[in-house]
Amino acid sequence: MPDTSPTCLSGTVVHGAGRGRGLGFPTANISPDPGSDVPQPAVYSGWLTRPATGAVHRATISIGTNPTFEDGPRIHTEVYCHDTSEDLYGERVSLWFVARIRDTVRFASVDELLLAARADVRRSEALLDSAHGRDVLAAAFR
Ligand SMILES: Cc1cc2nc3c(=O)[nH]c(=O)nc-3n(C[C@H](O)[C@H](O)[C@H](O)COP(=O)(O)O)c2cc1C
Repeated sequence: MPDTSPTCLSGTVVHGAGRGRGLGFPTANISPDPGSDVPQPAVYSGWLTRPATGAVHRATISIGTNPTFEDGPRIHTEVYCHDTSEDLYGERVSLWFVARIRDTVRFASVDELLLAARADVRRSEALLDSAHGRDVLAAAFR
């Protein structure tokens, strides 16, 4: 059988800069487990699983330096959950990557970032519902 194991990244939800909630895109900021292979900076579609509760959420993931807001080199791993606004702070979570949506962009304005993020979430919804999206979800519970 071909190796079709999806990429999974596990970590703990920590506090971010706190901008996301004000933008209407509250994100869970993930501190990846030490030694994890973090996927290349980009926007991705994926599933977020919560081992403590068995819950799973539909997600759009941003991995990058947040160049629209920051000039530093720090890579942030942030997850926007489509189907919950629950605060996951302190929880361990796993991200199961379904597809890369686009490169990270330094937008000229916050409005442009918000337009792009809304389009990302629509694209992510379709990717999660695709046959591949469902296969990744099945693998997460195998
Ligand atoms: C779907 C999505 C796409 C994003 N794309 C970008 C991007 O292209 N460029 C960028 O600078 N930040 C991007 N971000 C990250 C935002 O800048 C970040 O979530 C926001 O600054 C809030 O950060 P905070 O949680 O640390 O407060 C994206 C976030 C989401 C949820």
